Amino acid sequence: MSKSSITSNKYSSRPRMVVMGEVYNGNSSILTQPTEKRGVRRKLLYQALNPKALRLYKFTQEAEASRLCYALIQNPAGWEKQLERFTSSVVFCVAYGHRIDSLEAQTFPLIAKVASALAPWKREVQAMGLEEGQANLALLEMVKQEVATAKAKGKPDTVSDDLCKLLLDMREKESVPLSGTHFSYVPASLFGAGSDTTASTLCSASLGLVTHPGVLKVTQVELDSVVGTERTRTFADEANLPYIRVLCKETLRWRPVAALGGTPHASTEADIYEGWHIPSDTIVLGNNWAINFNEEYYPKPRQFDKVRFLSDAERARLGIDKQPYVGSNIHPAKAGHSSFGLGRRICPGADLAANSLFIALAKLLWAYDILPIEGRQYDIFAYTDGFNVRPKRSNALFNFKASSIRKYWRPSRRALWHGWRSSRQLGSR
Ligand code: HEM
Repeated sequence: MSKSSITSNKYSSRPRMVVMGEVYNGNSSILTQPTEKRGVRRKLLYQALNPKALRLYKFTQEAEASRLCYALIQNPAGWEKQLERFTSSVVFCVAYGHRIDSLEAQTFPLIAKVASALAPWKREVQAMGLEEGQANLALLEMVKQEVATAKAKGKPDTVSDDLCKLLLDMREKESVPLSGTHFSYVPASLFGAGSDTTASTLCSASLGLVTHPGVLKVTQVELDSVVGTERTRTFADEANLPYIRVLCKETLRWRPVAALGGTPHASTEADIYEGWHIPSDTIVLGNNWAINFNEEYYPKPRQFDKVRFLSDAERARLGIDKQPYVGSNIHPAKAGHSSFGLGRRICPGADLAANSLFIALAKLLWAYDILPIEGRQYDIFAYTDGFNVRPKRSNALFNFKASSIRKYWRPSRRALWHGWRSSRQLGSR
């Protein structure tokens, strides 16, 4: 794999997807759109996920991560479901400006519709697509009503600056060349693409930590020595916590959620790649698993060791004089791995996901020891099948270790109700 093949636009379209694209939802989803039609969607998404906007979401991510820690005190065995609630709530806030308290149907019926519509055994494909499409339109309508009510009350600023509101504002001011259904799929695609992927990565992090106890210990020592044990971690600590950042990177490399690259790419012109003739319209899968295990970039690739991603300066600061993993080549992507995909279809939510992973792990590792289940023989390759993969079995015990966390959750809960609005004052897109 070369830098030019990663960034090349020749391989950035999607093949025709009859069932998942055309029959299911008339190709409304960003994921299945061929390149030429999706410029406008991608532009809209980048507006919601640019660095300035990401700063606004950090407030919610911190509050939701505190909530995650608190929920685990009450029900440590339900940690996998709680991770899903955490990641779903973050992307739902970004898309629609509302939190998710529970993934149960009665709490947010529209979410349940989206989720069940995706269950392939439930209905015929077309009916499923229709159901999801209606739920997406209803969510758009919900935000539209909120904006209208706030305006009528003379308080337009009380509605959060989520992607859906941004889209509605744009549609009012300029022509957006998308039908109502296609338009409603733009925020919906964030939810579809961003919740399970991030939760699955956190599940892999727990598998890595329980099967490599040394990694957990060093990370917790860093956390406690830099920030102390008396307070929770926030994004303000990020610069001082390189181990957490590289732990996130190593997890993404070690177990790429989209093992075979996720949705397939298609070439849009003929190419010669390493002597192979690749005609136009060829389906191309970026085998993330193989790339992330390529010894050229990552010596001892099966080893789960975050040290491989520390920069020289960070190593010097941490007193690690030698980089133990020097490959013969450097992975050409900016992230240092391929887990967010390739070329123009690269994941637009990568930075939001990286922030969610960081804050969840920083807070969880402060409050909990993540321990192996006694007597369990771990198979680190026992993963589910499918586009997105995660460990097959729940694999860890979360042992609460910081009683002081209770006092941090309450302010966070209050902040969740009021904070979105005040977070807008940090700046505007
Ligand atoms: C750890 C978490 C995540 C992982 C591992 C991940 C990975 C990926 C991968 C591999 C792709 C396919 C890229 C390609 O075709 O080359 C993708 C696409 C996408 N992701 Fe993510 N993703 C994550 C989180 C998110 C989040 C949080 C969001 C949104 C808030 C998001 C939104 C999207 C969208 C909209 C696409 C479709 C892009 C397109 O087809 O043009 N992802 N992601």
